Amino acid sequence: MEKIILDCDPGHDDAIAILLAAGNPDIELLAITTVAGNQTLEKVTRNAMAVCAAGGITVPIAAGAVGPLVRPQYVAEDIHGDSGLDGPVLPAATRDLDPRHAVDVIIDILMAEEPGTVHLVPTGPLTTIALAIRKEPRIVGRVKSVVLMGGAYTRGNVTSAAEFNIYVDPEAAEAVFAADWDVTMVGLDLTHQATATPDVIDRITAVGGPLATFVTDMLAFFRSTYLERFGFPDPPVHDACCVAKLIDPAVFSTSDAFVAVELNGRWTSGMTYTVFDPELSVPEVRTAAAARRRTHVATTLDKDRFWDLVVDALGRLTEK
Ligand code: BDR
Ligand code: CA
Repeated sequence: MEKIILDCDPGHDDAIAILLAAGNPDIELLAITTVAGNQTLEKVTRNAMAVCAAGGITVPIAAGAVGPLVRPQYVAEDIHGDSGLDGPVLPAATRDLDPRHAVDVIIDILMAEEPGTVHLVPTGPLTTIALAIRKEPRIVGRVKSVVLMGGAYTRGNVTSAAEFNIYVDPEAAEAVFAADWDVTMVGLDLTHQATATPDVIDRITAVGGPLATFVTDMLAFFRSTYLERFGFPDPPVHDACCVAKLIDPAVFSTSDAFVAVELNGRWTSGMTYTVFDPELSVPEVRTAAAARRRTHVATTLDKDRFWDLVVDALGRLTEK
């Protein structure tokens, strides 16, 4: 059983990450925390509540950072719509938010649980996590691992260099990659393999019930924006890949690399500069790499294994 805190900005793929975490028996979801990203903090927090209402999920939900550490806010309305979760009818929240700030929820849990037993799973901009490290640096040594959706080593999706979660708050992302903890970067190179193809939608439909309808309605909207914005025939369900890795480590492979976030590039701000063989590089890179832990960079997804986990979790939540 792996304990996790899911820090997210729902978001269609964040919503599926929540449902996978809550529906899998090998994951103990300790809390859901939110961060401004795909939409404003208010909207993504309301969406987290709606997803939990749809899935019958009762874990604490706490709202986090309202915007990036230093940059202006940038949202993904073109992908996730005005609500941040356009498509399905959003159920009303069935309970109250945790009154604490998400930063305090993260710190309280990590300081109370046995060290080395809780994973952080950030699937939005890394603002809330960076603030938590800044407020209580001891959490770095207590986390079992950080499995984050963000970045890429070959491409971007906001610019050709930068992926959305990193582009939105590069300073926060750099603080997370620079901290001395075990980080897995689940970037676009991996998540673009996790596409919700028509056969996947058929499998989800076959689960039956209102939750399956909620998910297929989400995916129908997500499909239309991915087609319009990127020309993708099937939308990639990025964020759920992070949760899947903690359920089944064989769901994707990784390679270790030096990863740093570009903060000053004229065209490349928010790029995750990834060097798989830093020892073969110039002295400046070797020195920087020597000072930082290697990041595990996700490379190849076992797509069938991934979708089996998602469909299984939806089935379990439906039967509950
Ligand atoms: C990431 O950006 C968001 O729009 C998604 O939820 C995902 O976390 C993909 O670039
Ligand atoms: Ca997200």
